[in-house]
Amino acid sequence: MSDLLPAAKLGHIAATRKEGDAAFRVLSVEDFANSRAEITQWEGYAPTPLVSLSALAAAIGVGEIHYKHEGPRFGLGSFKALGGSYAALRVLQRQISAKLGQEVSLEDIRLGKYKDEAAKITLVSATDGNHGRSLAWGCQRFGAPCRIYIHAEVSEGRAEAMRELGAEVIRITGDYDESVVLAKTEAEENGWFVVSDTSWEGYSEPPRDVMAGYGVMTSEICNSLGTPPSHVFLQGGVGGLAAGVVAGLRQHWGKEGPRVVIVEPELAACLFESARNGEATNFAIQEETLMAGLSCGEPSGMAWEVLSEEADDFLTMPESLVAPAVRLLARPLPGDEAIEAGESAIAGLAALIAARQDADLSAKLGLDANSRVLLIGSEGVTDPAIFAQIMEGADAA
Ligand SMILES: Cc1ncc(COP(=O)(O)O)c(C=O)c1O
Repeated sequence: MSDLLPAAKLGHIAATRKEGDAAFRVLSVEDFANSRAEITQWEGYAPTPLVSLSALAAAIGVGEIHYKHEGPRFGLGSFKALGGSYAALRVLQRQISAKLGQEVSLEDIRLGKYKDEAAKITLVSATDGNHGRSLAWGCQRFGAPCRIYIHAEVSEGRAEAMRELGAEVIRITGDYDESVVLAKTEAEENGWFVVSDTSWEGYSEPPRDVMAGYGVMTSEICNSLGTPPSHVFLQGGVGGLAAGVVAGLRQHWGKEGPRVVIVEPELAACLFESARNGEATNFAIQEETLMAGLSCGEPSGMAWEVLSEEADDFLTMPESLVAPAVRLLARPLPGDEAIEAGESAIAGLAALIAARQDADLSAKLGLDANSRVLLIGSEGVTDPAIFAQIMEGADAA
């Protein structure tokens, strides 16, 4: 077996799938159809590439690897471009419709017909980077003021990218969860609107729209693949990406859909803990993972509803795999396309390779030479300084 990555032991929990309708109820067929109809009209929309990594697949002993490369998404560098911006537009639609006493269309807001109203609606969120960038970009496009709360560890490069999109960026000294609390409190005090990518008791509309936006990516994948993959490896932060993709795949392929493997950093494994306990469970983060987008200690309630029914396996991976996996994509095996990916993009790839280096785990996951694996390369180089640092590291493990 190949030693493309350093040896690593992954955590694994085999989940029992439950019969249920969460993949159709939490996110409906209509939710996805509406987001697709709107987002595909946006200027600059183009499907992102689904890259086949055939040499890598052969080297690790699987049939195919399909890597959905979200780096080029709307020039923002990640799949999150589809979520926060769409949820922002939907908040504007609800607020302007309520104010005017008539239903206004997303298109009319997008085209600036209600720009005076939009300018009075401030949208806020906490973020570790990509969601905030998407929200800031949406606010800039749709003419709403934007405030973004970031925690102490968010890189300055990511903060600057949001400022360049016109957002006011507020950096706190605490961690992500504290930035979420501050965003909520200040929004309540000032009549602003929180556009979060995670849900909690009594707060579900924006996170549902965020996940519906991700459905554009899933439908592009389903349109490109003739037959369903056997496995999908999905990285988890709060679980919104995974739940959005899983619901989209289930709606498209029904029971023929892939085996769902959730991957998280060992340092921020809230979905893994939730699987262990059979209910949404928080994880106390002691140290930040390099995979900044996955550094979440509290699962999204709505995402967990979907994942608790639809996920087959939960994995955790160590930090030691992150930089080598980024370098492996950027300096690929002969014949494969080079891909510049960010730290949070490679979780699925790293876990897949590590699992194939472990015969026992491969058997548990049902991975073999015939497996056709779908990976979500959720970001490109969203922080060039961090990427450059990783690339300077040694290639050898
Ligand atoms: C690049 C990237 N990948 C994956 C994720 C995880 O998404 P979620 O928090 O919805 O699970 C994030 C979240 O910020 C991200 O930025």
